Amino acid sequence: MADTLAALAPSPSSKGALYAETIPSIPSSARTLLESYANIPPDDVLPHIHRIRDKAWSIAPYGCIGLGGFATPTIQTHPLYRSILSDLKSGSNGSGGKRMLDLGCGLGQNMRQLWFDGAPDASVAGADVELGLAQCGFELFRDSARAGRTVFLNGDVFDEEGPLHAMARGQFDYVYAAMFFHLWDWEGQVEASVQASRLLKGEAGVRVVGWQVGGKGKEVEVESGRHEGGKRKMFAQDEASLRRLWDEVGERTGSKWRVTAENDRPEWLVEAMRGAREVERVVFTVERL
Ligand SMILES: C[S@@+](CC[C@H](N)C(=O)[O-])C[C@H]1O[C@@H](n2cnc3c(N)ncnc32)[C@H](O)[C@@H]1O
Repeated sequence: MADTLAALAPSPSSKGALYAETIPSIPSSARTLLESYANIPPDDVLPHIHRIRDKAWSIAPYGCIGLGGFATPTIQTHPLYRSILSDLKSGSNGSGGKRMLDLGCGLGQNMRQLWFDGAPDASVAGADVELGLAQCGFELFRDSARAGRTVFLNGDVFDEEGPLHAMARGQFDYVYAAMFFHLWDWEGQVEASVQASRLLKGEAGVRVVGWQVGGKGKEVEVESGRHEGGKRKMFAQDEASLRRLWDEVGERTGSKWRVTAENDRPEWLVEAMRGAREVERVVFTVERL
């Protein structure tokens, strides 16, 4: 989960606040996916998570990995989930349904949720700058047989000349981004959003959907396992600030976007954050007009 969120949790480990030595429980959505999609026996679920967590942590020390949130799917909590799923499934008969890119997919638990719920393999692709995490995802979900049928793109969203933009630009109906944009301050989020918008088809109705750490629409300083000094700046969004941000994206890209967003604090998030009650998220839908 976001390194930001972890900053709010009690420091649980010598490895810092982003890593809990013991992950005592996981939200029921993660357990369902691991038991029913990955066929992991109930008693093995937590040991399995700890094993994969340590491998993933050595690749990318994010709070979502150190605290165990990487196994928890969240896409099904988005208000448009059922309609997105139906759009993706509309390609099941080979007639070319809509497609989603999970941007900054990490281990890919949200892609597994979609597949588990019947989305065709090819309707969803993942992209991440740390593709080693996708490999950990195949181990976590024991579905390496899927590797040949699914697409994980390796690349940095900011690198316009890089492989992600070379392969994915203008391709998708949806970009899903969970715990992604909050990795940056305002300027970083504007730039990441500009680049994310370029991965969508250039037509009205395409959408960026997802969630990130929310707040009162201002910049805050948070802990980070990936920055010198262990601190970084994050812009904690609400609906009003996200509207400003997407107006700026629109000005920079010659496009118009409608933002709807809501801040909330679901119980599963508090559980995934090892009891950090101050945490809130902003769940957003950004549609091109
Ligand atoms: C906090 S994790 C969230 C992972 C996943 N979306 C989830 O819900 O668990 C952020 C992810 O973004 C990826 N990432 C960070 N910077 C990126 C960039 N510039 N381009 C693409 N992916 C990036 C990280 O490697 C990491 O997997």
